[in-house]
Amino acid sequence: MDCGEPAHREFLRRVEAIPLHGLGLSVDIYSPDLPSLRRSLLERQVPPAYFEIFRNTTRALVSTRNEIGDARLTYHGEGLWITQPRVTESWLFRQAVGEAGEHLHVLQSAWLNHECAAKFFAGHCFGTYLPPLYTRGSAEVVAENTTAVQRQLDQQGCLQDGSRPLVLLEMPPLTYFVAGTLPIPTFFHVICNQSACGLVLDIGHLWTVYRYTGACRAMTLPRFVETFLDDFPLERVVEIHVAGLDIHESIRACLTQEITRTDVPALPAWTDAHAAPIPPVLLEMLDQVLSHPRLINLRGLALEVDTKPPDLIVEEFAVFARRYASVFHQKGDCEKPRPLCEVNAVPESKRSASTEATIEEAYERYVQVLLGKAEPRGLEWNQDPVGTHELELYRSLYLPYEILHWSGEVEDMFVGSCRRLRERGIALEGFVAFWFRNSQPLADLYDFFLLKVDRFVAFIHEVAPDVEELAAAEAEGLRQAYRIANEPSQTLQSS
Ligand SMILES: [Fe+2]
Repeated sequence: MDCGEPAHREFLRRVEAIPLHGLGLSVDIYSPDLPSLRRSLLERQVPPAYFEIFRNTTRALVSTRNEIGDARLTYHGEGLWITQPRVTESWLFRQAVGEAGEHLHVLQSAWLNHECAAKFFAGHCFGTYLPPLYTRGSAEVVAENTTAVQRQLDQQGCLQDGSRPLVLLEMPPLTYFVAGTLPIPTFFHVICNQSACGLVLDIGHLWTVYRYTGACRAMTLPRFVETFLDDFPLERVVEIHVAGLDIHESIRACLTQEITRTDVPALPAWTDAHAAPIPPVLLEMLDQVLSHPRLINLRGLALEVDTKPPDLIVEEFAVFARRYASVFHQKGDCEKPRPLCEVNAVPESKRSASTEATIEEAYERYVQVLLGKAEPRGLEWNQDPVGTHELELYRSLYLPYEILHWSGEVEDMFVGSCRRLRERGIALEGFVAFWFRNSQPLADLYDFFLLKVDRFVAFIHEVAPDVEELAAAEAEGLRQAYRIANEPSQTLQSS
């Protein structure tokens, strides 16, 4: 990357204010329970140098900040759909960035890490992240939106040490397919040429790029990593993540049949799985990344362990801490940050309305392909029959699983309503079709569980109106239980 570029100069000014964070854990505060996980790590004498905390309520983050004391915390945000054209025009987006800014200040986090991906686009909601359309125009949209996020965060003021949180974009995983034909390293180069953001490189995500772009059929994994890193803006990488990989349960049975039938040795169809053990191959890839001469701005190296069993977290972190103890010593001790309250804003680059419309249409086509309503043909799709086959895994198995089972098992949520549907022979699969039938705008900050609750009641209204009263009562019970689970102290105080 050319250090003379304004965006890169601005990145350097900002990243120099961030101290080395060292070896950390990226966690959710409830899953597993963070205080008891910290105790287990201390007993094992492997306290992480920092915790990256996944988005939660402000109240929960305040109590985590108070509990953790002086330990360094960073923030893993969610709900800023920066891959989407025109997203910054929405008041919900500004509200979501405002919330992220508040959380950064609560945690005194040096960075906002956010996936360069979305769960909401072209008016459709998904349970897990979908990668961006890998095209040049789409990268320019991301750059512009990321700059807008940074600008709004800057307006929310400095942290106590005088620095300002830096926006980091994490390269997302691929889940069986890739959309767009621009090489992924080039995509991130385009973003970094236009935005002062940093990046997070997740090693498991990188493995999925090897697996699902077809690179695994063309070259060895070490050769792929070498080629990828040579083309990737590695000097922008501020944090590295390592998490587990696993066969997703929605496709497990299908793959067993497939392998038996074809008898073709292939790489496993792993996807990103934070609860799963870290396969050794990821540490080999990590060694290769860490030895790259352009990895010069790394500040943190974290295992991403939300939803993982605590014993496994402690065991893996102990091994990890031993193996990578010297990484940050070689880069210097965790020095104090240099205050940097005055920063230069990266010049705003406004794209034309017609270009925005073109990208919007491309995302609409992307969704139509995912839903099986259009063929994966044309400029945005690689004409690869293997890729198309695996896209079918996503469409026919993974996606219905998200709606019916992920983040709330519909049959367990609406026990009475589902029983009444069964009695009438109405299949729950109809809910999947209903979910994706029409596009609609978001009415509130993104919460997949609450969306599922609302939409199931709407589904019942359509297919079994006389069950609607029961479904509405079950829905209200679910919303209340959800509020109590998320804000236990607040609910107790107000009741
Ligand atoms: Fe990650």
